[in-house]
Amino acid sequence: MRAHTIIEPFRIKSVEPIHWTTRPQREALLRAACYNLFQLPADAVLIDLLTDSGTGAMSTQQWAAIMEGDESYAGSRSFDHLRDSVRDIFGFRHVIPTHQGRAAERILFNVMCRQGDIVPNNTHFDTTRANIEFVGAQAVDLLIPEGREPSLNHPFKGNMDVESLERLLSRAGREKVPLVMLTITNNSGGGQPVSLENVRAVSAVCRRHRIPLYFDACRFAENAYFIKLRENGYAGKTPKEIAREIFSYGDGCTMSAKKDGLANIGGFLCTNNDALAQQEKNLLILTEGYPSYGGLAGRDLEAIAVGLQEALQEDYLCYRIASTAYLGNHIAAAGVPIVQPPGGHAIYIDARAFLPHIPAPQFPGVALACELYLEGGIRSVEIGTLMFGEAAKMDLVRLAIPRRVYTQSHIDYVVEVILEVWRRRQEVRGLQVTYEAPFLRHFTARLSPINESVAQSL
Ligand SMILES: Cc1ncc(COP(=O)(O)O)c(C=O)c1O
Repeated sequence: MRAHTIIEPFRIKSVEPIHWTTRPQREALLRAACYNLFQLPADAVLIDLLTDSGTGAMSTQQWAAIMEGDESYAGSRSFDHLRDSVRDIFGFRHVIPTHQGRAAERILFNVMCRQGDIVPNNTHFDTTRANIEFVGAQAVDLLIPEGREPSLNHPFKGNMDVESLERLLSRAGREKVPLVMLTITNNSGGGQPVSLENVRAVSAVCRRHRIPLYFDACRFAENAYFIKLRENGYAGKTPKEIAREIFSYGDGCTMSAKKDGLANIGGFLCTNNDALAQQEKNLLILTEGYPSYGGLAGRDLEAIAVGLQEALQEDYLCYRIASTAYLGNHIAAAGVPIVQPPGGHAIYIDARAFLPHIPAPQFPGVALACELYLEGGIRSVEIGTLMFGEAAKMDLVRLAIPRRVYTQSHIDYVVEVILEVWRRRQEVRGLQVTYEAPFLRHFTARLSPINESVAQSL
């Protein structure tokens, strides 16, 4: 029998209690957190969809591998396991462990970029952009126009605009563009995948201009599975075969193992260039640690080595993508505006369309995120005017799904809560900032409801 119900491809051996609160408690907690969900104690959250980074559940094989961790400072056996697992999938010659993705980014851009350089990407993630700008280079996003239309359906909305890339490289040349990046999947653009056709085209342009292509590979397994589902000629291939083909068109990658490494911490940097690898390892030793551990414990290296392989298992990916789509499709069917089609790791609600009576300067994304918490103890994150200021093109609320953590009934509950807020959306009011830090204000900002009567009811 071919069942229609997608079940979690695991059973649960160890459970972690979640914490119920009453609505009056949540009102008090939200007031104390100054309407900033980052400021909530995690124990006051029932379903935590703040991020999919480092929040996944490890498997029995990963826990077993952890006991095999070799904590030797140099030449650790656990590093060999990590290197072999990474090479098996990614195929790059040098594997440099780091404590998380942004450490790999910092080292890569420090070694490859100079003041005034340009680094194109489909869409730079915020830490990627920040690390490029920190060395005085310019981060340029070259997403296809379809990727910027929230309600538009397109199978590969993460694709890079190849013509724009060609124009930029012809104008700036390899003197100004030390590398090109492709982020798979495109987190800042709704968790949308990049097609292999696009990878091949981007790679060909880079080769012609003799500029290396690097992947921001955080969600490479989810991207590979979308290719299997959506791209002609790949239905019969395994996710690992597809991942190998993707990376065969590149020269290196950065990776946060907190995503498709199925680990709670860790990352790595890869390159095929011997001279660069040497410089990168020298920098690694300065701030992260010796190249056989890179700021991680041997047991972390083991967990990542196993996690990378598990992330490519087809039953896991089938459940992962189906359960994210389930959430998106159920709320969209009731009229809730979301970024279409559902992404791999998260659903993004279009808060401007959800709350059209709240203008962007009154933070519709924050207002909606607060309301989901008040209604059902769900924590999400605003990606919009609070995060990016007036430059924000959209106000989104991201519901990121931790890997292997929540079950179908948790997701059903999330759907129910969102639909209840949707039903009474006219009642939701905007917010104003009462304190903000000079940079990355969304983490620590304090806000208050705009309308006094609403403030009292909250
Ligand atoms: C696309 C992308 N690149 C890089 C990073 C940075 O990784 P880390 O949080 O491990 O530093 C993230 C984290 O969310 C990401 O989503």
